[in-house]
Amino acid sequence: MNYRHVYHAGNFADVVKHVVLALTIEHLKLKDTPFRIIDTHAGVGLYALNHGPAERTGEWRTGIGRLFGAEAAPLPAPVADLLAPYLDLIAAENADAPDGQITRYPGSPLIARRLMRRGDQLVVNELHADDRVRLAELFARDGQVKVLGLDGWIALKSLLPPKERRGLILIDPPFEEHNELIRLTEALKEAIRRFETGTYVIWYPIKDEKIIARFHRAIAESCARECLIAEVMLRTARHPEKLNGCGLVVVNPPWKLEAQLRVVLPHLAERLGQGEGAQSRLEWLVRH
Ligand SMILES: C[S@@+](CC[C@H](N)C(=O)[O-])C[C@H]1O[C@@H](n2cnc3c(N)ncnc32)[C@H](O)[C@@H]1O
Repeated sequence: MNYRHVYHAGNFADVVKHVVLALTIEHLKLKDTPFRIIDTHAGVGLYALNHGPAERTGEWRTGIGRLFGAEAAPLPAPVADLLAPYLDLIAAENADAPDGQITRYPGSPLIARRLMRRGDQLVVNELHADDRVRLAELFARDGQVKVLGLDGWIALKSLLPPKERRGLILIDPPFEEHNELIRLTEALKEAIRRFETGTYVIWYPIKDEKIIARFHRAIAESCARECLIAEVMLRTARHPEKLNGCGLVVVNPPWKLEAQLRVVLPHLAERLGQGEGAQSRLEWLVRH
């Protein structure tokens, strides 16, 4: 386990993932019945951007720094409305920072916690021992959050179905191993078998587009539920060893998520893009 998310916190990939996550949680809140969010690869939950690894890499500057803070241009109104739940919580996290600076960035566990309601539950799972300690500190004495330290793929099996029978499962592995996309496809199939009405949000890196096309085909063949893909490319993928973009598979996407992403994704591609070929893609892999 070499991957450390702190080097990448707030980068373009976090922004794309967290925008989709926030929009999806907002949809779950439209019904009164409680739900559970399960974050299988959680990270530490909150990252300092003004010192330490994130400050050294500066990846957040071409991520959240392009959307929020002193140096970001204002967003067009329809995009600003849709991003408000996400950007408001970043603003709240940075309320004491001077001159509109961004000094802290919330990870997926904290985004989920801030957006859910009294009565909803959050389970955050992180295998790395040090990160798990930080996560446990962040949520100490919080009765709505359970922190676990399982292997994420085991957590996925053992936590499904949730007792509320309503839920969102975020799957965000580090992709350190070459077969992680295959493993993901198999794990997703089994997870859907256990909890077929759950909404699954799965992040993936886009380096070589041919590999991603195979991944899409495998998901489409194995997934019995509706399945939407949302991608942002930073540039044309001429160098397949580079992180050229990222995407999310959303299984059982909430009604209206597609329409909202049609507004938001092209704008994210424009803001986050790093050259020729920056663009977004939104497509149904499986549609009933
Ligand atoms: C991409 S990061 C998670 C970022 C987080 N979801 C967010 O959006 O803020 C992936 C995390 O998975 C953890 N991890 C690596 N292998 C794991 C495994 N087998 N099971 C659970 N967590 C794992 C890493 O330590 C890392 O913190």
